[in-house]
Amino acid sequence: CSVDLDKCFEVVSQLVDKAGALVAKRNETRQEFEEKANDIDLVTATDKEVEQLLIQGLLDSFPDHKFIGEEESAVGGAPNKLTNAPTWIIDPVDGTMNFVHSFPHSCISIGLKVNKVTEIGIIFNPLIGQRFSARRGQGAFLNGKRIHVSGQKELGKSLVTTEFGTSRDTDKLKVIFENFQKIVPKVHGIRMLGAAALNMAMVALGGADVNFEFGVHAWDVCAGEILVLEAGGVVIDPTGDKFDIMSRRVLAASSEELAQEFAKQLTQFYPQPRDD
Ligand code: IPD
Repeated sequence: CSVDLDKCFEVVSQLVDKAGALVAKRNETRQEFEEKANDIDLVTATDKEVEQLLIQGLLDSFPDHKFIGEEESAVGGAPNKLTNAPTWIIDPVDGTMNFVHSFPHSCISIGLKVNKVTEIGIIFNPLIGQRFSARRGQGAFLNGKRIHVSGQKELGKSLVTTEFGTSRDTDKLKVIFENFQKIVPKVHGIRMLGAAALNMAMVALGGADVNFEFGVHAWDVCAGEILVLEAGGVVIDPTGDKFDIMSRRVLAASSEELAQEFAKQLTQFYPQPRDD
């Protein structure tokens, strides 16, 4: 099918601005929340409202487009079948834990896939005015200014972003601690922003050199992937293989050499269930 990507970008940009204003307003006060899969997997009324705003706004312009949204999936519990149809993959508030605490690192993360290829990605942290965007073949931008990965190739000089994630699964935590033990002595440092999409955006910006996480969802990484690629970086599976957006695993880096070297260090974990 033919898709007017310019129009898609224009419409989604306006909707993301509107959603950002709402998130910023709500972040002025601490938010009531509900627990989803467990007591650290949270959702607020704003997550649901922003997702509705984005989906309804996109449907008004593109009635035949499909959606895979974090809160949609949480409610329906349905598997996220990605087809060739234009599909918006949406995290209305990535960094919900931060949002609940008014820790100013939350963002709207939205990507558009057409024929399963990501064409558009936007990651907007309205709390500190950081708006990342990318279109396939057109580069990556922060607030309209072109950005590039650092190009770092050496593990020993790398700043790494990652997360503990939103589960208390003991097997997973064991792997996370094991990886920290292996990685911390070998790199410059480790950072956690509390939002998977913003961690990836830091690699695109050149502020961090590697991002990896086990347990992410498609909506956490869809926009981040295109942003890192368009900034000149690489996105792979943490084993070193090809990235699979439904696998709940990601490794982004500033160079292929660093990505592969980093992958070799890791004890692997395969979160279940997959997103599809
Ligand atoms: C989560 C956050 C968290 C990351 C998880 C994500 P949410 O997204 O980005 O930092 O560790 O993997 O699922 O629930 O805040 O939208």
